[in-house]
Amino acid sequence: MRKGQPAWYEMQVVKDMMGLMGGKALRGVMSNIFSSRIYSGKVALLQVANYLEATLEPENRRALIVADDFTQKYAKKVIQYLEHINMEYKVWAGAKPEVPLETIETGAEVCREFKPSVIFGIGGGSVMDTVKMLMIKYEKPDENLLMILPFFGTLGLRQKVKYWIAIPTTSGTGSEVTQAAVLTDMSRDPPKKLEVLNEELPADITILDTDFVKEMPPFLTMATGLDAFAHAMGSYVSNWGSPFPDAMNKTAIEEVVKYLPRAYKYGKNDFEALSHMQMASLMAGLGFGNTTAGIDHSLGHSFGKLFDVHHGLSVGLFTPYSIDFQYKVTDRWKDLCPIFNIKVEGKDRDELFSEFIGKVKDFIHSVEGPTCVKELKNPRIEKEEYFNSLDLLAEYANTDAVSLTSYRPVDQDIFKKIFECAWDGKRINF
Ligand SMILES: [Fe+2]
Repeated sequence: MRKGQPAWYEMQVVKDMMGLMGGKALRGVMSNIFSSRIYSGKVALLQVANYLEATLEPENRRALIVADDFTQKYAKKVIQYLEHINMEYKVWAGAKPEVPLETIETGAEVCREFKPSVIFGIGGGSVMDTVKMLMIKYEKPDENLLMILPFFGTLGLRQKVKYWIAIPTTSGTGSEVTQAAVLTDMSRDPPKKLEVLNEELPADITILDTDFVKEMPPFLTMATGLDAFAHAMGSYVSNWGSPFPDAMNKTAIEEVVKYLPRAYKYGKNDFEALSHMQMASLMAGLGFGNTTAGIDHSLGHSFGKLFDVHHGLSVGLFTPYSIDFQYKVTDRWKDLCPIFNIKVEGKDRDELFSEFIGKVKDFIHSVEGPTCVKELKNPRIEKEEYFNSLDLLAEYANTDAVSLTSYRPVDQDIFKKIFECAWDGKRINF
């Protein structure tokens, strides 16, 4: 028996309405762009401190620094600048992986007591998403997170928080510039990932400084890098969007293909690669955040939650299947062939696409990422257990917010068939 309150996008009436919005005519029309002020490099923190000093009244110089167990150690690098401009501060390291709903309430309570005008989020996607949602609960305690409508709901935030400042410590989520936040509803059995979408959620300021990402272990570099890859690939091929996110996505793909293998292999010994991956992640965030992600995210959210697999690894694994599914209704993937050194001329469509999907898999393998469930090592999943879970996997994928915006209509049966293909890397022939 599954409990838990439904989110707006799980309601049938919303699913029915989305059919009206998913046609080709939408392309280029939905072109609002939401982003942050972006400061990058070794003087970024200093520049942001100067900006805060110049724009905040003395009574508003109160900053809450949100982090998790691992990233709280980075707070002191920020604090030295805050002390320099006489800002009061408090560190709350209560953010948790996967953002359980309860942590939002705890964080909001910390805000109500400390009354910050500035909130820093130092961390990966979970910290970013925690900040976004605790900010909603701090400013609008009565707001139901699961019923916030992305296209019509003006929340009216920033009455208490003047600046939300994101400092990513991984290069993949792009959450600093997106309108999305993902949380986990633990009251459902099994727990389910839910999305909150709103234009007021991108950070006001983003700081990209390699000092905050240089300690990433290779696995995290790979998994988060594949998240950025999935964002850009899924979004570019989905056929939603407009020239701005197209440009972001295409460049992000070029950058990830070029620099992720180096960042994975050399880590802090290759600052150029780390820096490029920071920007690639942000660009992919602007790309998919101002359009939509591919169904690799529906598949990956469901799979990652049920089998406890890292988000980036999950969505990276399903990227080839997401593209293969869209292949029947779009030629947009052809634009990406040169990035993978594929010559387009003289080949028929099927032949060209087979080569394309092969190169995408080769790239994922080049950073030791999996391209099918059978290949997954962390954790290993037994075939019987996987096939016994197909119905639930398909149900959770089909009720994921991202599924609403699949350019090619998808339903629970189709998801089930895609999951079947993903066991050992079969092509999608339906
Ligand atoms: Fe993602």
